[in-house]
Amino acid sequence: MIIDLSGQIAVVTGAGSGIGRAIALAMADAGATVVVTDVDVATGGETVGTIKRKGGRALFLECDVTDPAAHDHVVDETLSQFGRLDIACNNAGISGSLTPIDELGPDDWRRVIDINLNGVFFGMRSQLRAIAAQKSGAIVNIASIFGAVSFRGAPAYTAAKHGVLGLTKNAALDYSGRGIRVNAVMPGVITTPLTSVSSAGDWAPLIALHPIGRLGVPDEVAAAVVWLSSGQASFVTGACLPVDGGYLAQ
Ligand code: NAI
Repeated sequence: MIIDLSGQIAVVTGAGSGIGRAIALAMADAGATVVVTDVDVATGGETVGTIKRKGGRALFLECDVTDPAAHDHVVDETLSQFGRLDIACNNAGISGSLTPIDELGPDDWRRVIDINLNGVFFGMRSQLRAIAAQKSGAIVNIASIFGAVSFRGAPAYTAAKHGVLGLTKNAALDYSGRGIRVNAVMPGVITTPLTSVSSAGDWAPLIALHPIGRLGVPDEVAAAVVWLSSGQASFVTGACLPVDGGYLAQ
């Protein structure tokens, strides 16, 4: 089964690195035109360059996901350049510091909640306005296994990712009658710049938490996102799909 997204217009946030970049490349490989967004202009531009070198279609737009107006701009520009918006993947996120609640400063809490949770809300708010008018489309939010369980020292990340799953389920209910599917993916630990910070070079303890015996790679998350975005997943909405090497099965 080959997934075909040709003719579809997709927006991916945080697409300058790691999982977001892999999602943007996989969507382009499947034939979608990809609007790559990131707060980092240089890396976002690199993702667009890679897609174009492979013969795909892509556009970079700067977007800090904590800014509601930036999401409106992305959607307005997408509609003005391509006429529609079919797929949105709200991926941008940070890990924050590993700090228990009594030591976590208000600014650190707010920053993680702002990017990882508010960023998804603001993104969907703008995207759904466009997609709902078309009466067809799909949204995939990138949560985490820490949307279902927690990790010691990660109160803000855990709270934000639990919130992303709640928002996903709510949007699935509110928009299912309007031809829109909304799902979430819950990656286990994936080797990206985000995790290299917290692993401090020692992957063994993290690998031991994954029954499959290794960490994931960005392409494995991207494959799930492309499937959920496509017509192959036409009866799937409100789902929170672990892509985690068995982490949550324990
Ligand atoms: P990464 O650090 O490689 O990439 C994150 C991207 O988001 C970067 O391009 C960065 O510039 C962008 N970004 C950061 N703040 C932003 C903002 N305010 N506005 C717009 N873009 C912003 O991280 P990775 O690993 O690719 O993570 C992507 C998503 O996957 C995040 O939501 C993360 O929580 C989630 N995730 C990652 C896991 C992992 O093990 N790497 C596991 C589970 C979930």
